[in-house]
Amino acid sequence: MKSIKNICCIGAGYVGGPTMSVIAFKCPEIKVTVVDINEKRIAAWNDEDVSKLPVYEPGLDEVVKQARGKNLFFSTEVDKAIDEADMIFISVNTPTKTYGIGKGMAADLKYIELCARQIASVAKTDKIIVEKSTLPVRTAEALKTILNNTGNGVKFEILSNPEFLAEGTAIDDLLNADRILIGGDSTPSGEIAKQALVDVYAHWLPKERILTTNVWSSELSKLTANAFLAQRVSSINALSELCEVTGADVNEVSRAIGTDSRIGPKFLKASVGFGGSCFQKDILNLVYIAKTYGLNEVADYWEQVIIMNDHQKLRFAQNIVKSLFNTVSGKKITMLGWAFKKDTNDTRESAAIYVADYLLNEMAELTVYDPKVSEEQVLADLDYLNSRSENENRKLIKVVNDPYEACKDAHAIAVLTEWDEFKTYDWSKIHDNMLKPAFLFDGRAILDMDKLEEIGFQVYTIGIGAE
Ligand code: UDX
Ligand code: UDX
Repeated sequence: MKSIKNICCIGAGYVGGPTMSVIAFKCPEIKVTVVDINEKRIAAWNDEDVSKLPVYEPGLDEVVKQARGKNLFFSTEVDKAIDEADMIFISVNTPTKTYGIGKGMAADLKYIELCARQIASVAKTDKIIVEKSTLPVRTAEALKTILNNTGNGVKFEILSNPEFLAEGTAIDDLLNADRILIGGDSTPSGEIAKQALVDVYAHWLPKERILTTNVWSSELSKLTANAFLAQRVSSINALSELCEVTGADVNEVSRAIGTDSRIGPKFLKASVGFGGSCFQKDILNLVYIAKTYGLNEVADYWEQVIIMNDHQKLRFAQNIVKSLFNTVSGKKITMLGWAFKKDTNDTRESAAIYVADYLLNEMAELTVYDPKVSEEQVLADLDYLNSRSENENRKLIKVVNDPYEACKDAHAIAVLTEWDEFKTYDWSKIHDNMLKPAFLFDGRAILDMDKLEEIGFQVYTIGIGAE
């Protein structure tokens, strides 16, 4: 059996960083080196002050503090780390293609291929390659072809080990994973490689939670898990609109159906729409694969999950304009929260971006407050949409560090992320300092609607209709 002594991970992002930190923390005899081409990011991972790590995750700072410098290293020396490693995780980003065939749908595998070629050119000893990035089914096959055609006699085994951690709870998800999935070939050398990775996770997880499958099942399981989770959110969001027009309360509906053990209580929270780097991308991948095989009904079925999500973001924004007497031009609207969910500084595909874009097109003046997101990030997210010039965005949007200042003189407040601190604010004080009527749009249903109405707010909560 092969025992792993040296791991390299290419990609020090939201997935690679926390995952490798936990592996190093739990496997003190394995040297773990995380490499990235982004020098600034690596410098931040090496910052003495762990509050400056590039990824914000509760508990990550402690884990990094324990392992960094002992058996956990962050570096930009990609070739050296590849050369030394027995096992290489690929955790680079796979954005949706913005050009050519599959544009707007297929995953762009450019970075994955670059990694494979780099590994092939550097490696002098046999290596196990682990796909950590979420990839379209059968990517392992392509990786294998690139790696095995180098002609230098080095043998590669490819494993698929998809990530199921959710941002904001990544450390806990890694330490107490429901399951670890390891896909690989059923050849003798494939079995040895799978076992080597099983042994890494078995340092802290019971063996029955470590599942082994063939590579394609593993790749497809990741897309399927995310598609199912996103589908639950779109399903409850579809119901939230029905609740609003019929006078029902979607939270009561969620609770009622969630107690059915066949359905279960999780992922039934109505919201302004799901975001994050994975849900939309993975479903689009699934849709693309289905279309590629001519399975149009299958593709349409999953695409509807995204159509519903886009509708939810749009109708939330439209409702703000409609409630503010059909015009928000020149009106100050405060957005509380910009991250795609609480306890993370990640904003990728956040519903807030799309709501802001809609309101900016209506010429609203936006003030944003998020406990973890910087002004630079907010502006970068809007620039990425390319709806307006950077200058126009800068004129209409302000990002502040104090929630009370953010809400002062506002016509309306919109809650876009479910940060816990929003629940503890002095809402009477906020109300006193707003223009009247003071509107509040709770896109996460986290605030006490009755109490706010008592204070004097005009409250709209997602999924709750007027009785
Ligand atoms: C990424 C993918 O988005 C996701 O599909 C997958 O499941 C895990 O990897 P994440 O870690 O959140 O998720 O991405 P990101 O934070 O963008 O990190 C990727 C890192 O890879 C970046 O820091 C980037 O600089 C680095 N990278 C990219 C390389 O080091 N080399 C490359 O060639 C390309
Ligand atoms: C997801 C998967 O959960 C994880 O297993 C996978 O590895 C990566 O993708 P992540 O995107 O980090 O994780 O967060 P998640 O907690 O799944 O939330 C995704 C989005 O759905 C967020 O915008 C969240 O606010 C929203 N959501 C989630 C709801 O609107 N309602 C819910 O009930 C649950």
